[in-house]
Amino acid sequence: MADPIITASGLTKSFGATAALRGIDLEVARGEVVAVMGPSGSGKSTLIHCLAGVLAPDTGSVAVDGTELTALSADARARFRLERIGFVFQFGQLLPDLTAVENVALPLLMAGARRRDANERSLQWLDRLDLADQAGKSPGDMSGGQAQRVAIARALAPQPSVVFADEPTGSLDSVAAENVLTAMLDVVRESGTTVVLITHDARTAAHADREVIVRDGLLSGTAPVGAR
Ligand SMILES: Nc1ncnc2c1ncn2[C@@H]1O[C@H](COP(=O)(O)OP(=O)(O)OP(=O)(O)O)[C@@H](O)[C@H]1O
Ligand SMILES: [Mg+2]
Repeated sequence: MADPIITASGLTKSFGATAALRGIDLEVARGEVVAVMGPSGSGKSTLIHCLAGVLAPDTGSVAVDGTELTALSADARARFRLERIGFVFQFGQLLPDLTAVENVALPLLMAGARRRDANERSLQWLDRLDLADQAGKSPGDMSGGQAQRVAIARALAPQPSVVFADEPTGSLDSVAAENVLTAMLDVVRESGTTVVLITHDARTAAHADREVIVRDGLLSGTAPVGAR
């Protein structure tokens, strides 16, 4: 691969007697959108947690944007995640007592931005996700799809090297899921952000550049979307 932003090799990870990853090699190109599919319990979340530096694999190595994560201490990995990695979860995990604009500004403030600058950038990202009119609302007063778009704005606003999304539309009905996904991928493709996205839904995976399939802790296939 010409310019991989993620290079993982020989990843294994066990939880007690459960071998969640049994030897995974994966490269992701800069700007690529990769869909990770596979049965429940096959190791998808464990894989992206290792790629993102949330979990340390038992063996193998992970490099993200030139940094060898597996050589870092847990503290250094946490700092790397704050600065370079974005996350989107199935249930947004927004802070319920903050407004949309405050939720999106929070990681910017944590990275050292001044409040005015953070709020301004937060509003710009909300606008890009068509949420300008939701900026002052708290997550509990929004639809599920709106709240997920706020979570996406929060992940993208710090301009991370890679965004990892674990079933970002898994809690939405199919129309809302399609809208949220389309909004996310428009912005991601415009900004050249690399995305690794877990999904159970073939229609969601069809928006990616490439699908990889995890079965029983191993990659059982990888193909450009549309090639099969
Ligand atoms: N913290 C943990 N402690 C113990 N076992 C775990 C832990 N995390 C994952 N596992 C086990 O590792 C295996 C892989 O789990 P993982 O969460 O990666 O699956 P998944 O493919 O994301 O599944 P799903 O589609 O249901 O989210 C499963 O057998 C799971 O029970
Ligand atoms: Mg999972």
